[in-house]
Amino acid sequence: MTVFETSGALNPEEHRNIIVNRVELDEIITHIENQDQYAVIQAPTQSGKTTLLYQIQSRLHQHGYGVVYLDLSSLDDLEPAQFYPMLCTEIQDGLGELIVDNTDPNLDPDKVTNQISLLKYLRLVAEKTQQVRKLVFMIDELGGLSEELTSPFFSTLRSFFTRGRGISNDREFYKKVMFIFAGNLDLDKLIQSKNSPLRNICELFKLNDFSQEQVLTLAQNLQEFTPEIVEVIADCVHQWCEGHPYLTQRLLGLIDKSHECRNASQDSLSGEIHKLVDKHILYGSDANLTHVLNYLRTSGDSYCQAVYKILHSQPEEQSEKAPHAQELILMGIIKRSSNQCLIIRNQIYKETLEIFLHNLPRGRK
Ligand SMILES: Nc1ncnc2c1ncn2[C@@H]1O[C@H](COP(=O)(O)OP(=O)(O)O)[C@@H](O)[C@H]1O
Ligand SMILES: [Mg+2]
Repeated sequence: MTVFETSGALNPEEHRNIIVNRVELDEIITHIENQDQYAVIQAPTQSGKTTLLYQIQSRLHQHGYGVVYLDLSSLDDLEPAQFYPMLCTEIQDGLGELIVDNTDPNLDPDKVTNQISLLKYLRLVAEKTQQVRKLVFMIDELGGLSEELTSPFFSTLRSFFTRGRGISNDREFYKKVMFIFAGNLDLDKLIQSKNSPLRNICELFKLNDFSQEQVLTLAQNLQEFTPEIVEVIADCVHQWCEGHPYLTQRLLGLIDKSHECRNASQDSLSGEIHKLVDKHILYGSDANLTHVLNYLRTSGDSYCQAVYKILHSQPEEQSEKAPHAQELILMGIIKRSSNQCLIIRNQIYKETLEIFLHNLPRGRK
């Protein structure tokens, strides 16, 4: 039976054996308990943002928090007049019985049609959840917000934050609300650029790929392999994926199902794993690689050229000013090495990009 899972976010209960506990989980929980700044989780697609949000939700539920998970990708392309009521309906449904005495004035999501009424609505929600220590609204897939809505929405959140630090009598209601944002868009820019409404009111948490020890913990879920062999497998998986959360699960899942790996000697194991990578990931149709290559296909020649250069240049040629570096980092295609050079994120990406760029018509690379 395969325990490894790659189809979407992991459930903290159902998948607890195959969830790697990341250091960022404790850091974010401590932040929520002690700080008022909103939290921002940034990582490329399929790096575990949603899984982490679910874990945060499950931890906080046990400690007197009201937590609501909101996925903006389900509300994308909505006009403001539809977006605000839908968002507030989700908030209200998510809080359920935590809202007490919903009368005079009562909370009516359908009446929330713009940023001003959103501010009032959230303030009232905070007042009507007396039993709750803090309200935590987790906003996932931030990139799903339409351009028209981005600025007014974040400005509302800024006013909310500022009122929590203000001197009015009702500041406790504003202070009680914490937002956590997650996405693969340039949140750095959003929270640092001079004109951004989120400037200085957020703390950024970037998710790192799994360490070698974390990969080993995950590999210990492999059935019917001896502990020594599990260690060899974990090393090999780490060499290929360098801790990429999705790819690590994918490769371990393939190994778990492979008779050849099960019957292999310690010496031939890495060759068998290599074959699995070739057949199912590099030359199969892997969801993550498809996503990465589609991005490059549609981003234009200069992106392919930038990747080509990083793939083939000597480390000293790789400066911080490399073209498109920031976007390629956000997409999770490249990363910074310990000495700050730009490198491809892992061995699987190196090989797939090599094949992809090799097959591009001349001039595109
Ligand atoms: N903490 C974790 N431990 C183990 N595997 C994980 C973890 N987080 C993510 N993964 C793997 O990555 C995949 C994508 O996770 P997800 O949370 O949907 O990422 P994101 O929201 O960043 O796109 C999961 O299906 C799983 O294979
Ligand atoms: Mg997600």
